[in-house]
Amino acid sequence: MTGQLADHYRRLAATYDDHWTYDPEYVRAFARAMAGALRLHPGDGIVDVGCGTGLYTRQLADDLQPLRPITAVDPTAAMLDRVPVSPLLRPVLASAEDVASGRVSLPGPGPVDAILVKEAIHHVSDRAGTLRGLAGLLSDRGRMLVVMLPRTIGHPLFAAAHDRFEALQPDPAEIADALTTAGLRASVSRRTFPVAIDRERYVRMLEARYMSVLGEFSEAELAEGIAQFRHAYREEPVLRFEDHFAFVTGWVRRA
Ligand SMILES: C[S@@+](CC[C@H](N)C(=O)[O-])C[C@H]1O[C@@H](n2cnc3c(N)ncnc32)[C@H](O)[C@@H]1O
Repeated sequence: MTGQLADHYRRLAATYDDHWTYDPEYVRAFARAMAGALRLHPGDGIVDVGCGTGLYTRQLADDLQPLRPITAVDPTAAMLDRVPVSPLLRPVLASAEDVASGRVSLPGPGPVDAILVKEAIHHVSDRAGTLRGLAGLLSDRGRMLVVMLPRTIGHPLFAAAHDRFEALQPDPAEIADALTTAGLRASVSRRTFPVAIDRERYVRMLEARYMSVLGEFSEAELAEGIAQFRHAYREEPVLRFEDHFAFVTGWVRRA
């Protein structure tokens, strides 16, 4: 992870959950969609790679009541420190690359049946190699879900942020190809989560650089972008938009 990215998540850690809990149903609906896509059941060995503060991991665990704790992996200590202490969660300080390469081994016992990578794959530079390594950890009923934003998003960002996002964000098709090359049966589907959020709250999220792409801008550039945002949405005290996600799944092929 670059120093800039590490600083970004270190700074964001304390407020990360607040940005996403303005609508508790958003997190609940998202966790249900991921559990459905992975067809999770309580007997599965589950790993959440790039779990951040565990905002979604803990919802998954609360809903599923897994028989073994969900392993919650993240390379940013400040984010991982926010994962609540729970017998249902087991935090591991590591990157996707650490786990994929075996530099950090996952705590047992039992096989890994389901791997979730939610909104973290864009931070991995060797995506094909890392996904291959993660796929190699899966049991013979294993499956992986990579959740990511598409390359074009409808978030009410300012123009320069949209441009930068599109330049940086990998294509879900690239991830599906990587899962296929890793030997999994891959597919891509779209999910949409409606968002309604007070404009002033969204301004605070922009100021906090709630998306990592906002970390690409200097203070002055961000202030200019927020001014543009305020002007564009001056008539809308509540912003409504659709949050589209790609769900890229990979299933172990049975012999
Ligand atoms: C946008 S947050 C998503 C967190 C969580 N999955 C969620 O949806 O709330 C991205 C997370 O990826 C982590 N991250 C950054 N580089 C990573 C890497 N190489 N491998 C795994 N996670 C990484 C960051 O520390 C951060 O917690």
